[in-house]
Amino acid sequence: MNFIVQPSTVADATVTVPGDKSVSHRALMLGSIAEGKTIISGFLAGEDCLATMAAVSSMGVDVAQSTPTDVVIDGVGLRGLVEPSQALDLGNSGTAMRLMAGLLCGQSFTSVLVGDESLTSRPMGRVITPLRSMGAKIESEDGCPPLTIRGGSQLRGIDYTLPVASAQVKSAVLLAGLYADGITTIKEPAVTRDHTERMLSAMGVEVDRSEHRISIRGDQTLSGTNIQVPADLSSASFVMLAAILAESADILIEGVGVNPSRTGVIDILQAMGADISLQNARLYGAEPVADLRVRSSTLHGGPVDPGLVSLAIDEFPILFVAAAAASGKTEFSGIGELRVKESDRIAAMSAGLRILGIQVDETDDGATVHGGRFGGGVVESHGDHRVAMSLAVAATIADDSVTVNDVAAVNTSFPGFTECLSKLGVDIQ
Ligand code: S3P
Repeated sequence: MNFIVQPSTVADATVTVPGDKSVSHRALMLGSIAEGKTIISGFLAGEDCLATMAAVSSMGVDVAQSTPTDVVIDGVGLRGLVEPSQALDLGNSGTAMRLMAGLLCGQSFTSVLVGDESLTSRPMGRVITPLRSMGAKIESEDGCPPLTIRGGSQLRGIDYTLPVASAQVKSAVLLAGLYADGITTIKEPAVTRDHTERMLSAMGVEVDRSEHRISIRGDQTLSGTNIQVPADLSSASFVMLAAILAESADILIEGVGVNPSRTGVIDILQAMGADISLQNARLYGAEPVADLRVRSSTLHGGPVDPGLVSLAIDEFPILFVAAAAASGKTEFSGIGELRVKESDRIAAMSAGLRILGIQVDETDDGATVHGGRFGGGVVESHGDHRVAMSLAVAATIADDSVTVNDVAAVNTSFPGFTECLSKLGVDIQ
């Protein structure tokens, strides 16, 4: 499957984007081990979260979708999961695999976690190391999936400093901490998304938080609750940039999650000159939400604050496009983690932009993007949803038609992406 995008005029529009992927995964996992019902609205019915749903269902959790975005979970309690009859297939989802590893290492049964080709090449040592030091028995070859998690280990709390800023690793250790004796403490080198901490607290779990340190005591009960999932800022960022790059657009994206541990993309785009404002700020439970008003703007390059990297970790593919459309050069540094996402995103975005006529100089953990005009051409997504969507947005202001190959993975995070861009006036097939 591919996208064929023609140079387009983006019109004024009010749009919504699907639910937040990180919050949807967590709602399923925490709702499953809670006591009582958890009712999720605004759930992201994308392939990644559906893989998590299938996994909890195969461990005896009664989970049902009354509509694609409304989910009811009958929680089984902390000790109520049962042994799955087959390996849990987590598809393309690093979040599902790493969080599940944390959740499963304190169970009484053995489980096997597998994924697709991309996930099978992603590093799991970062969760295996701390979980083993808690007493978990996890087997893997070369630190990559499949993971075999042996049941029956009594975990113990640890004090762990994360070597890389990773919300997935933090969350895995916190989930294992629920099954551990004593206190588990995590220190993070930079702030990462804190949806796990917020949701645990909303479910009645005591989570102690001070700057960069999070502690949790084992054996606490989670209480089922209602969770309204905000629209995903990561998905909204594609729509935002389409509007920013357009000649004259003024768009509103409704109900978007603006948790401060996620809003680096807004800060970076604003620093480049983008006209983005937050309206109607409110809360969906523990998560801050706003409507985003985005107007066409002229972008300029410059150094991107490396302090914002962990707050915008998934938005660098689209920020590469912003940089390519900006005047001057934009320098990204401290983004080495991008090389171990669904694809090597520094390489994939650099290659795609070069085909469109943009100069990009790569380093191990950064890139300098030289602003210019986009020509047409055929570009590759490398099977990565965010690379595919970023290149499709670049195509809206290209001089000629752009084909983006291998875009099926867009359904992992943004089902309805083409319809959403079409609503803005983009000619995308
Ligand atoms: C996620 C955390 C991030 C992000 C991923 C979702 C999460 O990964 O890239 O898409 O839901 O915790 P890292 O925490 O490993 O950087």
